Amino acid sequence: MVDIKNVVVVGAGQMGNGIGQVSLMVGFNVTLVDIKDEFVDSGYAKIEEGMKKLEAKGALGESAADIMAKCKKSTDLASAVADADIIIEAVVENMDVKKQVFKTCDDNAPAHCIIASNTSTMSISEMATATNRPDKCIGMHFFNPVPLMRLIEVIYGEKSSDESIDKGIAFAEKLPCLKGDRYIAKVLKDRPGFIVNRTTAPAQIYQNYIFDLCAEKGISWKALDNDTRGPMPTCVLADYVGIDTIYHGLVYYSKTLSPDFAPGKVITQLFNEGKLGAKTGQGFHDWSKGRPKPDKTAGKARMMKLKYPIAIMLNEGCRILEEGITTSWEVVDQALMAGINMPGVMAPNINNSAKQVEVLNELVEMTGKEYFKPCELLKSEKWVEIK
Ligand code: 3HC
Repeated sequence: MVDIKNVVVVGAGQMGNGIGQVSLMVGFNVTLVDIKDEFVDSGYAKIEEGMKKLEAKGALGESAADIMAKCKKSTDLASAVADADIIIEAVVENMDVKKQVFKTCDDNAPAHCIIASNTSTMSISEMATATNRPDKCIGMHFFNPVPLMRLIEVIYGEKSSDESIDKGIAFAEKLPCLKGDRYIAKVLKDRPGFIVNRTTAPAQIYQNYIFDLCAEKGISWKALDNDTRGPMPTCVLADYVGIDTIYHGLVYYSKTLSPDFAPGKVITQLFNEGKLGAKTGQGFHDWSKGRPKPDKTAGKARMMKLKYPIAIMLNEGCRILEEGITTSWEVVDQALMAGINMPGVMAPNINNSAKQVEVLNELVEMTGKEYFKPCELLKSEKWVEIK
């Protein structure tokens, strides 16, 4: 097994520059690639800013300048991957674009090089078909912001070899996290959304339903945000993740899991208007002066009922077990905490399956969305034993 020294990150946006930063922090040589100089420069500047913060805190072993000297910039993917040991693709969520990136990497990278995708939802197996090394194609799904979120999902495509997965895991384990130890979740099946995004995905069907209802009733996003608890309120988090990422994810789920995932009116309108959230300065909220603060004066919308997303996520956690994506409900809970700082939904419901089945049936009735129907494993309560 060739040791990893040279890391190429394709896509210098918020995920790409985060992956670049943590790779540099542990001593890897990093090449940051994007299609335009301005994108690469902006990603590089974000990494440099992060390194300088850490340097000022005395948290780096060497100077920020010495670390940044190991970061190359490129707009030519073919030459950038010529001596790569691992490539992590973090480009737009578009299968054709991703396949083109995989092909160029395969044509130009050394034979031992692993090609990983940071896709949020999409099939690693399909990307691998664009290469002649499907055994060396894997998923490595990071969470935003990469330097602060502990989880990395390492995903098997249909043809990924155990050796490639082990190499991906060994690499992931080395990457530092500023908020605690990394948690690496091995994802055994290449299914849409993997573990965390899959668990939370159907809660977006409910969110879309609420967004559209709020728009109809003229309820403000600030008031809706006041309905939720957790590290980031609903609309702030949607802006933070990116309306485009959410939109593309929903379209993908609507094709691969159920038409019930089709993006709602509000998300579609924001997407079409280019109001993509933090990255464009406007989404649900105005981000021109930084992350929007909670506004208590807006009152509560009293639209979002926490009991629904909990039942939805429990049901989806059971589907994840049914499909063999992981072998333990504990992994689902631990991944939720490490990836999105959300307490697990499985452990608190060990004795609640029957009640949650009722909540889900109520939700089907209320929204007309069949996807919320309780799955067999939840109804049987046997999921509790899959630990
Ligand atoms: N480099 C160096 N330092 C950094 C840094 C960086 N890149 N980024 C942040 N820091 C520092 C900050 O300066 C700050 O330092 P200080 O304590 O000295 O001021 C410290 O790290 C903490 O930063 P914040 O103050 O911004 O951190 P918060 O405590 O406010 O927490 C958060 C931020 C962890 C992002 C929290 O709000 C959270 O958990 N939000 C939820 C995020 C989430 O759910 N992410 C997942 C989205 S889904 C996803 O990514 C999947 C994909 O497929 C879509």
